[in-house]
Amino acid sequence: MIRVSIVGGTGYTGVELLRLLAVHPEVEIAAITSRGESGRAVADLFPNLRGHLDLQFSEPDPGRLNESDVVFFATPHGVAQSMVPDLYDRGVKIIDLSADFRIQNIAVWEQWYGQPHGCPELVSEAVYGLPEVNRDNIRSARLIACPGCYPTSILLGFLPLLAKGLVAMDDLIANAASAASGAGRGASVNNLHTEISDSFKAYGVEGHRHLPEMEQELASMAGEPVQLTFVPHLLPVIRGIHATLYATLLDNDVDLQALYERYYADEPFVDVLPAASYPQTRSVRGANICRIGVARPQQRHKAVVMSIIDNLVKGASGQAIQNMNLLFGLPETCGLLTPPLLP
Ligand SMILES: NC(=O)c1ccc[n+]([C@@H]2O[C@H](COP(=O)([O-])OP(=O)(O)OC[C@H]3O[C@@H](n4cnc5c(N)ncnc54)[C@H](OP(=O)(O)O)[C@@H]3O)[C@@H](O)[C@H]2O)c1
Repeated sequence: MIRVSIVGGTGYTGVELLRLLAVHPEVEIAAITSRGESGRAVADLFPNLRGHLDLQFSEPDPGRLNESDVVFFATPHGVAQSMVPDLYDRGVKIIDLSADFRIQNIAVWEQWYGQPHGCPELVSEAVYGLPEVNRDNIRSARLIACPGCYPTSILLGFLPLLAKGLVAMDDLIANAASAASGAGRGASVNNLHTEISDSFKAYGVEGHRHLPEMEQELASMAGEPVQLTFVPHLLPVIRGIHATLYATLLDNDVDLQALYERYYADEPFVDVLPAASYPQTRSVRGANICRIGVARPQQRHKAVVMSIIDNLVKGASGQAIQNMNLLFGLPETCGLLTPPLLP
């Protein structure tokens, strides 16, 4: 069994890790940390886990975490940077759900996150944990930087077009909407039900922290620099991201439907819908899957790609476990094949 610990067990990605790991056949959960809830039974805070986990939250104690085979960080940015070096030196594998190790250029990270990087020496060791792109590197990694939720939906949506060099790289557009759980469980007036429900708005249009991460990874797929216009929106639902992507085709004869079906034919967690059907966020709730629909309206030169995920599963905790499965030589789908919840 793999001994797993989670730092940040009381957040939304933390509880989603617990829900998925509680029934993972190869995992034993050793420690779940929370400074605020230390000593409290997990099932007391999260009643959905009653009967599945008989554990209490504990303080993030490096001595205890060191005894794990792998530690997940489901914490705000800046936390993993301070704790990873010690764990790394002791041979513990790290799967970080935060942004701490995603951006390879330290100056760019510091500019967007507004603080000095706490562990620049390990950034080049980190593998970006998008299995559909980096599967082989993930298998031999010791430190995984899991992609953000918007980046997962947007990168998987653009990947076939960029990998095949079929679109103009200087004018990619992503219009995307995320559920309220994307902002985490911390209380804030902006996320009150009364502030967000029955409404729809854009935010961060001038610059969102996921932009440099996406441009870095899109450039790597394309093999050349790219420019992305990214407009995030707040969707007043609990789970889900819907990204609508636009790219200018260089060749109007390309069969987008065939391209996407072929590209993702062997991917267990990417589902290309039949022609002329559009994915809905309700079709992926609770599941580790990205569903994609493609179109070329009026047969003009714009490719339109709709890509949806559950931000907490394929956008965070499910993908983190997909990475763990690869790191430990398990079947990639192990513990991740539960169908989505509907209605
Ligand atoms: N929500 C999403 O959809 C999503 C998707 C992809 C990636 N992410 C990323 O995943 C990370 C976690 O997100 P979340 O939404 O689950 O956040 P969250 O709901 O705000 O939870 C944060 C967790 O981190 C713990 N924590 C905070 N400061 C800490 C510190 N200094 N040391 C140790 N533990 C600390 C908190 O518990 P205590 O304060 O009690 O210790 C809490 O359990 C973030 O970096 C986020 O950007 C989130």
